[in-house]
Amino acid sequence: MAASDWKTHNPSGVKRVIVTKELPGARWLEILMAADCRVDVNMSNDVTGAEEIKELIGAGCDGAIGQLTETWGDELFSALRKAGGKVFSAYAVGYNNVDVSSATKHGVPVGNTPGVLTETTAEMAVALTFAAARRIVEADDFMRSGKYQGWLPGLFLGELLSGKTVGVIGCGRIGSTYAKMMAEGFKTNIVYFDKYPNEELEKYLADYSKLLESHGKAPITCRRLDTVEETLSAADVVSLHPILDDTTFHLINKERLATMKKNAILVNTSRGPVIDEQALVAHCRENPDFRAGLDVFEDEPEMKPGLKDLPNVVIVPHIASATRWTREGMAILAASNVAGILNGYGVWPESKDISPFLGDNPPKAAPSIVNAGELGLEPYAG
Ligand code: DGY
Repeated sequence: MAASDWKTHNPSGVKRVIVTKELPGARWLEILMAADCRVDVNMSNDVTGAEEIKELIGAGCDGAIGQLTETWGDELFSALRKAGGKVFSAYAVGYNNVDVSSATKHGVPVGNTPGVLTETTAEMAVALTFAAARRIVEADDFMRSGKYQGWLPGLFLGELLSGKTVGVIGCGRIGSTYAKMMAEGFKTNIVYFDKYPNEELEKYLADYSKLLESHGKAPITCRRLDTVEETLSAADVVSLHPILDDTTFHLINKERLATMKKNAILVNTSRGPVIDEQALVAHCRENPDFRAGLDVFEDEPEMKPGLKDLPNVVIVPHIASATRWTREGMAILAASNVAGILNGYGVWPESKDISPFLGDNPPKAAPSIVNAGELGLEPYAG
């Protein structure tokens, strides 16, 4: 680690917080400085390894903000605790890279950044859906390579999605927002698979369907199905939004891909290992009308051999949450988690809207601490 990679803000701060990547916006830093923190930021774009993080934690560190590219396990939580660490926040909503039970064992609250990624990520899933359906990347490449010789009836035929069936696997915040965007925008029917029924989504789309009918349009439906297989085989587009854990690792494998329609579209903005990427490469090779839109990969930043050569796959580098508003919002929430705990504030209830933290008078609370219950942290009292 080169010392020049690190930038220190507010060197006279009484508490010390490390941040393993520079974050967008200015507000997150103001929040930490207002909590009397000296803030040490790694300015390098390289992934910060465990040794480097331990070195940075050093002998005195009150809190840390880490990235999804790092593995936060027992080693780091033990080092953080020994250095006096009282809180860690992931700069992400997904925290499959964080061993929360280790953090809990060491008494370290773990924060994440829900709520501010929802629309941004759902919009990227919609973008990938249509980029795949309408072959945008192939067509763009065709234009740039000077191959366009004039309009043709059969040039780049894709799939019409209006009125088709969209399948959503994992129908929480982001999945249900994507479902609404597709249903409202393109009058698609929705089928979904999730452990829990999403009554709010079903009611919302039932009401929307009535509105359509009252305007003389065809109704739409929204149904929860019992199995992943039923969802895959019923849908023209499948978008994946589960968390990554042991139950969702390689959820989409060779056998399940074979149950999908030959011209289906598969979109993944969740986590790469939800798909067996090698099986997807083989499936896309054998089924040229099948298309995929991928934001995440099994071995990021690598791709499985052959993936990048497939014309029926659209690939982007894990940017589904990459809008300025969202990334600045994530920084504000991560900093508020750390500052909130260091200030001794209570924890904001999970069911409550997170947006007040983005406003001018943020609540005196830590916005999202995933192990608050296990650690017996006080809830926000208002
Ligand atoms: C998250 O926050 O989990 C996202 O993957 C970041 O884009």
